[in-house]
Parts: sequence; structure tokens; C-alpha cells
Amino acid sequence: MKFFLDTASLKDISWAAQAGLIDGITTNPSLLAKQAGDLDPRDVLKEICSLVEGPVSAEVVSIDTAGMVNEGTELAKIADNIVVKIPMLEEGMVAVRQLGAAGIKTNVTLCFSSVQCLLAAKAGAAFVSPFIGRIDDVGQEGMDVIREARVIFDNYGIETEILAASIRHPRHVVEAAMIGADVATLPPDVLKKLLLHPLTDRGLDQFLSDWSKLAARAKATV
Ligand code: G3P
Repeated sequence: MKFFLDTASLKDISWAAQAGLIDGITTNPSLLAKQAGDLDPRDVLKEICSLVEGPVSAEVVSIDTAGMVNEGTELAKIADNIVVKIPMLEEGMVAVRQLGAAGIKTNVTLCFSSVQCLLAAKAGAAFVSPFIGRIDDVGQEGMDVIREARVIFDNYGIETEILAASIRHPRHVVEAAMIGADVATLPPDVLKKLLLHPLTDRGLDQFLSDWSKLAARAKATV
């Protein structure tokens, strides 16, 4: 399973990239606005693209086809690994088609049902992003969308990658991996939680304590 980091934080991206834990990045206007501050968001995206080799999703903010295509075309000039994130809209489907014809990869975002994922794939998206956590938030089972989309895509040999988004906790990652989502995009805090287990901490404390007792004994006998 591929892991993307769902952030525009250069600090978190640098750490995860150095550790070889991530295969790409997803951003959205909210995440970029938080990181950019007074900086030009394009410069932030450029920096992100230099830190990771894999796809970096950058989202358009237009909601008409021409605007999305223009913005997407400009975003794609930032670096070769930019993937243009397009919202699931009627106009967005045409933009996905047009950008694809120009050789620009797209990630259709704000998907909340498996048929939305199917339509995005038919339009030619490289990735579809069902938002698991936000579906859970309204009392439905977000993981069902991933499950259904996996079956549908496999039934018809659809190559569009299922990117499990709006991941909130480690169980989301485990379940998405078991179902066979191609990618999970993780907020940095969820990626860090995947590293943790209380028995790891307890085991390490024990090893270090035993070792310090041995070192103290060795010192006493000198
Ligand atoms: O980047 C899209 C998605 O992952 C957002 O997640 O936690 O804001 O629902 P969240």
C-alpha cells in the first residue's frame, strides 16, 4: 500500500521523506493556507515537490470548467510530479477529461460514494479520493465506499487508484489496507501514531534499565 502525507507542512514532509515512509503528498486549500502564511502557495508547492519524488496533489479553487483547466494547467507547470486535484462536480468531470488529454494527471476529490468514484474514473482521473472520516462524521460507514469502489474497479479492470482520504486514526489505515485501497493519505499525526505501541515503550524501558544496571555493576567493580 502506498502512503501519501496529507499536509503542506515542510517539516513533517522532510521527516517522512527522509525515513522513506511516504510515496507522495496530498494538499488541499485549507492545508496550504495553514502552511503558506505570507508565502506564495506556489512556492510552498514547489518546495514540497522538491522533497518527494512521488505525486503531489494540488487543488484548484475554481468551480467552472475553464477556470479549473486554466488553474490545473498552471499548477502542473510547478513541477513534473504535480497531480491536479479537481472537485467532484459536473464541470469537474469535463476538466478531468481535458486535463488528461493534455497529459496532466488528476485526483478527483470530495468523493463520498462509490458511484462518484466510478464516474471520476470514467472521466479519466488517475486517483479518486473518498473521504472516509467525513462520512463517519455524519453517521455512515466511510469504509463501505472504499470496499464498494474496490469491488467495482476490480470487476471492470479500472486502473484509477483508490486513495483513501480523510483518514483519522490507525484503524482506518488497517481497514483500508485490508480492503485493498491503493493509497492512504495520512495526516502526520496519524502516521506518527502508526509507529506507537505501549509494549514497544515498555520493552525499551526494560532493556535500557537492565543495561544501565549492568553498566553500574561494571563501574562498581573497577
Ligand atoms: O485532503 C483531503 C482530506 O484528507 C481531508 O481530511 O480530516 O479534513 O476530513 P479531513
